[in-house]
Amino acid sequence: MTENPVVFIDSGVGGLPYMDWVRQELPEQEYVYVADPKNFPYGIRKPQQIIDIVTANVDLIREVFNPSMIVVACNTATVHALSRLRELYPFPVVGVVPAVKPAAIYSPNRRIGILATERTIRAPYLDNLVNEFASACTVYRVAAGNIIDYIEKRYFHRDEEEMFTLMEEALSELKRHQVDAVVLGCTHFIFMDEAIGRYMGSPVKIIDSREGVGRQVLRMLQRYNLFRPSAVRPGFFTTGGLSPADEDHYRLFAGHFDLEWGGRL
Ligand code: DGL
Repeated sequence: MTENPVVFIDSGVGGLPYMDWVRQELPEQEYVYVADPKNFPYGIRKPQQIIDIVTANVDLIREVFNPSMIVVACNTATVHALSRLRELYPFPVVGVVPAVKPAAIYSPNRRIGILATERTIRAPYLDNLVNEFASACTVYRVAAGNIIDYIEKRYFHRDEEEMFTLMEEALSELKRHQVDAVVLGCTHFIFMDEAIGRYMGSPVKIIDSREGVGRQVLRMLQRYNLFRPSAVRPGFFTTGGLSPADEDHYRLFAGHFDLEWGGRL
């Protein structure tokens, strides 16, 4: 059993690449991953519902794991629930927001695209990020829930034709507007970064927040003296019951990221 792990949470598998980034940098630390298939997807829910779901999950995680830190590896949950989580819990809570600033700094022709969930696209939090960091740019926002669903449910059963249709649906508008940077404003999209880059064509930069968030987690571990060495392989846990097919798919993700299958929390 792990003690005081850093716990990464998301509605599904989107936070796995974030945990992986930190784990590559600091392999000896204890980590746990918790996906929330019971409430997936967050991106279509109302803000208050998202706050309620995420706080209930963190309460449960607190009881089971006594975490040293929570990483909300989900943009939708962060933009709606982060401030509430920070009020409620004594441990540090790190969030993930769309990397608008680096995209605006990079963009030579000042046109950027943001791909996110329906709920993030319409969040006042995102308006503020855009006003603060990208006011000199034209910003195109696209909600791409179908890609998120594909990754969560069918990523390892790859269907190239379906993938191309999903790319068309989400990205053709950004291509037409000739954006030169696309912000992956939902953690799930990292699984598709290469396909998105291929579809958009070569001068277009695909930007995610993995490194920025990962470095912040490392800084917080140091600042609050939370480093807990452990030989235990990080576990992948889920909320709620899973159908056998869903469980098989999640187990593939666990294997892909070298995680111990923990099953239902
Ligand atoms: N991975 C989540 C994000 O970064 C969203 C997926 C969902 O809609 O649940 O926003």
